[in-house]
Amino acid sequence: MADDDALQAFDLRPTDTRVGAEIYDLDLSKPLDDGTFRAVSAAFDRYSVLAFRGQDLSPEARIAFSKRFGKLQINVRSEFNKAGYPEIYTVSNILTDGKPIGSGDAGRYWHSDLCYLPTPTRASLLYALVVPERDGVTLGNTLFAGTCASYDTLPATLKRRLEGLRAVNSYNAMFERKASEFGVRPKLTDEMAKSYPKDAVHPVIRTHPTTGRKCIYVCEGYTTRILDIPEAESRELLALLFAQVIKPEYVYRHSWRVGDLLMWDNCAVQHLASFDYAPLHRHMERTTVEGSIPF
Ligand code: SIN
Repeated sequence: MADDDALQAFDLRPTDTRVGAEIYDLDLSKPLDDGTFRAVSAAFDRYSVLAFRGQDLSPEARIAFSKRFGKLQINVRSEFNKAGYPEIYTVSNILTDGKPIGSGDAGRYWHSDLCYLPTPTRASLLYALVVPERDGVTLGNTLFAGTCASYDTLPATLKRRLEGLRAVNSYNAMFERKASEFGVRPKLTDEMAKSYPKDAVHPVIRTHPTTGRKCIYVCEGYTTRILDIPEAESRELLALLFAQVIKPEYVYRHSWRVGDLLMWDNCAVQHLASFDYAPLHRHMERTTVEGSIPF
């Protein structure tokens, strides 16, 4: 696949689900020409999840490629930002001298990255350095659920009910829940809570900034409450929408290989990591590209 100005053709293989495509024969260690970059961007809008297979990328190359899509974000858990590369966040269960070198519980709940910020993430790029495998089976898959297709199939009456509703997305609520459920991260102290981002309010149904499609933009990981409706109704609607997004027909499961760079659109998909591999190791590094204010 390539457009007129592209110097590099590449092999794009859509998955058999509603989101996702694999890309072969494209070396991201060198800058892409503008034509190839436009073709990759168009594929990103079309498929929402792109798996660039067989890469060998330095931190600098990953940062340079990510920056072509926008400004990079620095994760608030700075203890897991890679030394010398604050834009790279470490997702890992490896301990060095008894201490975690990365976030060991990232992706425990279905979520959209950094939706707790006023300007959330557009694209996340996760690079696989260590992938767990047992008896020839790859473990630690990442699942993606399409939020546009799952919106499209909602009944018209429900779509009308959701119009104009806004919801609270909370980093601190997620932190407390993970600390109590998994015990990998410390308990949230008042001091930590003050230093972390304040809750952000976003539309329950969001319009994709590039494709114009409507997407469900509440997730079990961060969304705590729909505003301006009774609490019981908020709970009922959130449960319904969380279940709608992750129906099997909207889900793609990515089975990792070392050297994959996986890039996803946080408006068009939500994701979840599988935790089926302990005591084996899994080590990934992520950059996130800032998006726009949801509308
Ligand atoms: C994340 O939530 O960004 C991490 C996903 C993963 O580790 O598969």
